[in-house]
Amino acid sequence: MKPTKDYSLIFLGVVAALFLGSFIVGSSVAVQGKEFPAIGPLPAVPVPPDNPMSKAKVELGKLLFFDPRLSGDASTSCASCHNPEAGWGDGGDLSRGYPGTQHWRNSQTILNSAFYKKLFWAGESPSLEAQAKSAATGNVAGNGDTMMMEERIRQIPQYVKMFRKVFGDKLPTIDDTWRAIAAFERTLVSNAKNVAFDRYMKGNKGALSASAKRGLALFQGKAACIQCHNGPLFSDESYHNLGVGKNEAFEEDPLRQITLRYQHLSRGVPEAVYRSADRDLGLYYTTKQKIDRGKFRTPSLREVKYTAPYMHNGVFFTLEEVIDFYNEGGGDDPGKSKLLKPLNLNDQEKKDLLAFLNALASDKPLLMKKPNLPPYAAMR
Ligand code: HEC
Ligand code: HEC
Repeated sequence: MKPTKDYSLIFLGVVAALFLGSFIVGSSVAVQGKEFPAIGPLPAVPVPPDNPMSKAKVELGKLLFFDPRLSGDASTSCASCHNPEAGWGDGGDLSRGYPGTQHWRNSQTILNSAFYKKLFWAGESPSLEAQAKSAATGNVAGNGDTMMMEERIRQIPQYVKMFRKVFGDKLPTIDDTWRAIAAFERTLVSNAKNVAFDRYMKGNKGALSASAKRGLALFQGKAACIQCHNGPLFSDESYHNLGVGKNEAFEEDPLRQITLRYQHLSRGVPEAVYRSADRDLGLYYTTKQKIDRGKFRTPSLREVKYTAPYMHNGVFFTLEEVIDFYNEGGGDDPGKSKLLKPLNLNDQEKKDLLAFLNALASDKPLLMKKPNLPPYAAMR
């Protein structure tokens, strides 16, 4: 028995664990002298204590997500605008709206939305539960009345049974409806096994192509994307103005103008600003600070391969266009973030960055068939 050797082995083990731990959990990366949270595989999905996960709840939430009866005229389900076939967005630059309206923003993917602390393009919603309610009731999305939707759910015997099993011995409530939908959304997350970048970070050095590896270095170096797209989610969850150009639809489409003005008015924007509404003001709606005009939440870059078009107003249809936009130092808004500068990437570097962005997506898109929905029944 040689105790010294044993101690040194323990010591080595501790050092190795610390090293691996910081590698896997993610510490920070320095770029241009500043530290940023390291990118790496996602942690376990955060679950709020008052809405624990269960298989039965997720199954119920899935049905409700696809069910158009959770909208005013029973025509528009969550899946109408978060369609699995369109990367869980709606595939348009600006979203369709509730029948008779056209939305003023791009329909976001809901993949990995379980990881954000604040939801929506400008962080207006605090949780998936609150978000589901505002989507189903908001007049540009579901336009449903909560009492009416609750009665509809109670008129569907299979739902009554399923709600009992999940939420206890009572009739379905609309708040439990949002809980079930949120639980389902918490399952729509990237699985590290299916993502080349995650496999690479977990030690499979062959998982990234040589081009994607160069892209990773650019991302954290010359292209400096990591300044905002950082941490396992590739989002600092903060708000920035990139000077993204206007979507022409706000000049040409009366229905889009109505919802944009409606958004200004309903968010209590001063009369002068409201009258001249020609673009989405982002974080300004919440803070009313001029400096926040045009600021949007940094979106995750996970699964971005499948979620075109891009940006809050969908003005870019391909990732190549997005990379060109950054290469030129972003748009030309006077309030543009100082963090954006021309990058001087050559054609090969642009391709490498693209290869890296593509390696952040699952090997195959996360698809799901629309489930058979349970029918109404007359009560006796
Ligand atoms: C008519 C289209 C439409 C419908 C219907 C709709 N959504 Fe959305 N959804 C959008 C748009 C547009 C956004 C971005 C809104 C914003 O930023 O103001 C969004 C954003 C979201 C987000 C935020 C994602 C993120 O990254 O922050 C979640 C989650 C979401 N929707 C879930 C739902 C659920 C659940 C339902 C059904 C109850 C639903 N949506 C119904 C269009 C729709
Ligand atoms: C100053 C912070 C910042 C930097 C630096 C930055 N981004 Fe972004 N990124 C954002 C914000 C904020 C948005 C959303 C902007 C909007 O909608 O107006 C965004 C949007 C995107 C999108 C669209 C995602 C979607 O779902 O629509 C992609 C792709 C993207 N960025 C990639 C990159 C790449 C690649 C780099 C490096 C070349 C980079 N970003 C650098 C903050 C940043």
